[in-house]
Amino acid sequence: MASKLIAPSVLAADFANLQRDIEMINASEADWFHIDIMDGVFVPNISFGMPVLKAITKHTKKTVDVHLMIVNPDQYIQTFADLGSDILTVHYEACTHLNRTLQAIKAAGMKAGVALNPHTNINVLEDTINAIDMVCIMSVNPGFGGQSFIENTYNKVKQLKHLITKKGASTLIEIDGGVTNKNAKQLVDAGADVLVAGSYVFGAENPTETVKDLKALANS
Ligand code: DX5
Ligand code: ZN
Repeated sequence: MASKLIAPSVLAADFANLQRDIEMINASEADWFHIDIMDGVFVPNISFGMPVLKAITKHTKKTVDVHLMIVNPDQYIQTFADLGSDILTVHYEACTHLNRTLQAIKAAGMKAGVALNPHTNINVLEDTINAIDMVCIMSVNPGFGGQSFIENTYNKVKQLKHLITKKGASTLIEIDGGVTNKNAKQLVDAGADVLVAGSYVFGAENPTETVKDLKALANS
């Protein structure tokens, strides 16, 4: 089985020591960098924008996984490609023409991800799953780090895994929000491939060890 991936969320890093924290993730067993872009419209919070992302990608040595929590993501697809995004994830709830958006992300040379809010049912992806490289199941309401994990996520992961298998798709399943050593194993057992962890990693006394332990747990 393919190894399960850990994606620390930079939202929980120390922004005054961003380069230090990025180097720390570079040197750790983490697989990806998860980058949260919030516009204050789609979600009730503003994180950071293009200049900061540019500064981040200058130092990253791993896959850059950008999670857009913004309305009208289509108008920024090329910009995010130019800034060094490898995977660009848009929210299902923010896309009126999801099929077109997915095509545009791929045409710009990136992998295409779709995130689902906790209230959004998996079955809305029936007709698009084969065109999606990754589905990000939100296990908190998007907008903030450090929230508690929503238990219904396990059911959604199983439903999504079932859909992927049924359709013969090769879509990865990512879990975002409230991931810790308490739920990592159960998420992977349900079918998750990528675990995003923000405060659990950066809030730890030893983030490098925490990534290592989470990765071992996810692959146990
Ligand atoms: C929430 C973001 C998450 C967040 C995860 O809106 O999309 O990526 O940074 O943070 P934790 O792991 O602290 O819940
Ligand atoms: Zn995220």
